[in-house]
Amino acid sequence: MPANRFNGHTEYGIGIGLRIPHYQHILEKKPVVDWFEIISENYMIDGGRPLAILDNILEQYNVVQHGVSLYLGSAQPLNPEHMRRLKQLTRRTGTPWLTDHLAWGSVDGRYTHDLLPMPYTWEAAGRAAENIRHAQDFLELPLAIENVSSYAEFHDSEMTEWEFLSEVVERADCGILLDVNNIYVSSINHQFDPREYLDFIPADRVAQIHIAGHSRYERFILDTHDHPVIDPVWELYERALGRTGPTATLLEWDDRIPPFDEVHREALKARRYLDAVVAASAAGANVAEVMA
Ligand SMILES: [Fe+2]
Repeated sequence: MPANRFNGHTEYGIGIGLRIPHYQHILEKKPVVDWFEIISENYMIDGGRPLAILDNILEQYNVVQHGVSLYLGSAQPLNPEHMRRLKQLTRRTGTPWLTDHLAWGSVDGRYTHDLLPMPYTWEAAGRAAENIRHAQDFLELPLAIENVSSYAEFHDSEMTEWEFLSEVVERADCGILLDVNNIYVSSINHQFDPREYLDFIPADRVAQIHIAGHSRYERFILDTHDHPVIDPVWELYERALGRTGPTATLLEWDDRIPPFDEVHREALKARRYLDAVVAASAAGANVAEVMA
């Protein structure tokens, strides 16, 4: 399956989130990693140790920026000072694309620091698309928008989450950061078939994929990023790759972070799937046949 204009960066195979407990290990051992994902907000500062470490990492590794506070779904326009700092950082890192969430979290300029799911309405889709277009124009970079996990739904939604995501990215002409763990979490919480979600979205817009572990509670599962990836999520990942072709993949592990080698080993499990997509495409077979 040929790469598309959003996932055509074949040198970005499997990435790992850059986290403080791993700084020393990475700088000393220089492990072989395709790329690191950084949280932009942690480095939007004027100097100090985090930026010095980032510069060191950038000498040896590709870095992709992931953001948590653009609030692209908010009714307010983007924050100009935030955008200016973000653009400065993109020039430093050379990130080939930039990701943030399809969510809101600010009301009248006050921020909740949460990523809140949106009502799936035509109006909200239009507003989010407009914010994304402005961000792409200003940053002069493609954006890829991540689906968040949710635990509640709005009564006034006019479509499904996957219809909403597709509508926004088509209107904004942007990419998707497809978080298959978030789809799985939401499918349990809202009882839909996650395969229907994967089969619907415009696969040619998927620029990057997130996989992660999560915690299961009595009634809900929470997207906590503190466990290995579970089998149903690997199955969804395989199905997603069957549609998208080889796509940059990032393992998220944000809490109770184990030693670097353990996170790396878990991330490298994705290599088998990525290799199978390439082999399937060469053999004219599907990914499941190659993996069997
Ligand atoms: Fe994610």
